[in-house]
Amino acid sequence: MSQSAPLILRLLASSVSAASRAGQIIKDVMHKGNLGIVEKGLDKNDLQTEADRSAQKCIIGSLSKLFPGVTIIGEEGPHNDQPEDIPSDWIVTEQDKAVLASDCPNEYSKINPQEIVVWVDPLDGTSEYVEGLLDHVTVLIGLAVKGKTVGGVVHQPFYNYELDKQGVGRTLWGLVGLGVGGFVPHPPPSDKFIITTTRSHADAVVNKTLEALKADEIIRVGGAGHKVLMLLEGKAHAYVFASKGCKKWDTCGPEGVLKALGGTLTDIHGNEYNYAKDVSYPNAQGIFATSKHVNHSELISKIPKELKDRFPY
Ligand SMILES: *[C@@H]1O[C@H](CO)[C@@H](O)[C@H](O)[C@H]1NC(C)=O
Ligand SMILES: *[C@@H]1O[C@H](CO)[C@@H](O)[C@H](O)[C@H]1NC(C)=O
Repeated sequence: MSQSAPLILRLLASSVSAASRAGQIIKDVMHKGNLGIVEKGLDKNDLQTEADRSAQKCIIGSLSKLFPGVTIIGEEGPHNDQPEDIPSDWIVTEQDKAVLASDCPNEYSKINPQEIVVWVDPLDGTSEYVEGLLDHVTVLIGLAVKGKTVGGVVHQPFYNYELDKQGVGRTLWGLVGLGVGGFVPHPPPSDKFIITTTRSHADAVVNKTLEALKADEIIRVGGAGHKVLMLLEGKAHAYVFASKGCKKWDTCGPEGVLKALGGTLTDIHGNEYNYAKDVSYPNAQGIFATSKHVNHSELISKIPKELKDRFPY
């Protein structure tokens, strides 16, 4: 049955399952660290690196085995692992049943593997993890067809961790034309305008931008995945990232879920990023994303020229 589902739907179903397995691997590595970090003098950065690499091996190892013709690009560099280098229980063969049972829009029926690029960030929000902001941590998988984002997966390994110590986290997914799953979308409040942005210090031009956009409230959180979650769950209307430090694998997955819900993610000038396999990795023109409940182009037109001039093409 599953072999008859369109390629993009099978890829999304596998991505959902692989992201969730990767989240478990991250928790296993971090748990080991929490137990041994003081006595053994383990460095938290080493653990992050181990969690990052292991999660990426799981995701890319699993997807490349099932979908050999698809290009997969991960944050941790090129995938050179031989199958024997990856523990067999990290190779995920199951495919999320809810995704697989969905009625895939016809537009996806004739896509070739060569037209697809999968962008993987195995662990987004690591500096937040060190500060104990566990729910800022996400595993991101984005699906692009002919350079355009069409779908994505955002897995939160530590979702609800305070209440649910044995928690399995949660996995949000979306495919443009099909919709979203794994969470209940909420519209943002209609009586105020909320912007989410980075936790790092804002300079005068960024502050001027936030003023020009007339934000009633600014929420500073870590991680691209987590900021898009704020839009998906109606906690913010817009997401501004006025820096070049974000890469294609940070945005493709979250953009896929946001777009499937009718939202928009572009650069500071209002243009979508290209996610083809030969593009440069940095999102050099910044990020501006909105929920479907606000007018993206109208807000883009309010962003001061001083800020736009910082991000030339
Ligand atoms: C920008 O705004 C933040 C928060 O309101 C403030 O702490 C910071 O000093 C401002 N930066 C500048 C350069 O005005
Ligand atoms: C959004 O704003 C633009 C520019 O201000 C306007 O041309 C367009 O009609 C608006 N779109 C919607 C759906 O309101």
